[in-house]
Amino acid sequence: MAKDKDIRPLVAGNWKMHGLAAAGREELVELARRLERPAACEVAVCPPFTLIALAMETGGAGGFAIGGQDCHPQASGAHTGDISAEMLADLGCRYVIVGHSERRADHGESDDLVRAKVEAAHRAGLIAIVCVGETEAQRDAGQAFEVVEGQLSGSVPEAATAEDTVIAYEPVWAIGTGRTPQPGDVVQMHSAIRRHLERRFATGEAMRILYGGSVKPKNAEGLLKGKNVNGALVGGASLKVDDFDGIIEIYRSDSTPAD
Ligand code: PGA
Repeated sequence: MAKDKDIRPLVAGNWKMHGLAAAGREELVELARRLERPAACEVAVCPPFTLIALAMETGGAGGFAIGGQDCHPQASGAHTGDISAEMLADLGCRYVIVGHSERRADHGESDDLVRAKVEAAHRAGLIAIVCVGETEAQRDAGQAFEVVEGQLSGSVPEAATAEDTVIAYEPVWAIGTGRTPQPGDVVQMHSAIRRHLERRFATGEAMRILYGGSVKPKNAEGLLKGKNVNGALVGGASLKVDDFDGIIEIYRSDSTPAD
């Protein structure tokens, strides 16, 4: 059975709709410089589509991987404004985030659509980071596990493997709010997700399960060091290199944990 220590964690930055070229370049150049200090995790940056080429130029060759924040389920076609997984792969991306709660909410994305996007990502050779998570009302109603289980069943295709799929558990109420679950609640949800993955997938024991939602340097150690927590999907704190690197720091063996 795969142990957490056998799974290389992933810290992925989701820039959302933030970043213009000049500041983005500075940020990425500095991140590449900081990553010269090795960490026992993989690092990825998912900038807006407009900065992907620049991200490839500045850091793509070195310390971090690049991902898109969404993709269309088809490889090409008459879909004005959309970007396909093939296009992301063509630019050199390794990852694509799919089913983020902001897309589920802003664009009405269903589990079926998310699953089609994951399949498109896999066809293009990308690793899909599939987001799941309950709203505050669902948690208060005691439905968190049921909701996440349903999203996993609907959004993750049967052919998924540990090599091509990463799960990100992001409680909607923790995203961008500064509020986080208790570390024990994260571990409980991640172990439920692990059981689901092991039940369905031959490599489910080795699939990475990230936590996302208000991860900051000061809470990273507590949120990310629990069992079955294999890294983080970071929004706001990925926009400032000090904060993002401060989260990565918990995976450096020469570091002292932040309090
Ligand atoms: P946050 O966002 O870190 O700003 O809460 C996380 C996410 O939406 O992926």
